Amino acid sequence: MERLVCLLIGYIFGLFQTGYFYGKTQGVDIRKMGSGNAGSTNALRTMGIKAGMITLLGDCFKCVIAVLVVRGIYGQSHADILPLLSLYTGFGAVLGHNFPFYLKFKGGKGIAVTAGMILSTDIRIAAVCLIVFIVIVAVTRYVSLGSLVISVLFLVGLVVDGQMGMFGMAQKYLFEMYGIGALFVLSAFIRHRANIGRLRNGTESKISFSKKKNK
Ligand code: G3P
Repeated sequence: MERLVCLLIGYIFGLFQTGYFYGKTQGVDIRKMGSGNAGSTNALRTMGIKAGMITLLGDCFKCVIAVLVVRGIYGQSHADILPLLSLYTGFGAVLGHNFPFYLKFKGGKGIAVTAGMILSTDIRIAAVCLIVFIVIVAVTRYVSLGSLVISVLFLVGLVVDGQMGMFGMAQKYLFEMYGIGALFVLSAFIRHRANIGRLRNGTESKISFSKKKNK
């Protein structure tokens, strides 16, 4: 039952579409510009660096806040499975972000939200992911490639932390945790299907930091 509650709490926080609302303050609908994705990459691409940063931070920290709320609610009563419940919350936030009911289920791709989950899980995994992401994007200028790689790195980091006993949970809960971690990866790859196709045939758009409005 508490797993469902965590998914729901995450979903509700995930509904806040930073890029969409920022776009509305600028009189545009981000979903009708650039790649059509309501995420920070498309906010950067279509509205500039400030929009990209605000969207990235908003989408990342809505997940961090959702996890903090859940930790506040279940910190005492479910201390033994709190890392697992946190992960359910983060995955709920990805679902809310990717499939917001009030925008006809057309949201983002969940990577900034996943970054919030990584940050909430282990600052060391977050640091590795950040460095790898920056290197990939700096070298290739493909944000989607960096996004996919860090989603896989997150799962690897979860398993390493879990096997090292960092979460202090029984093995059966650890395996459940890895399963939810795998859902983050699966969701990222499914949402990036079109990007993967473009990466394969060399037509994926490269990120630029120059401001191109209403593309
Ligand atoms: O996180 C989204 C990013 O990986 C790709 O975004 O707009 O290029 O499809 P976009």
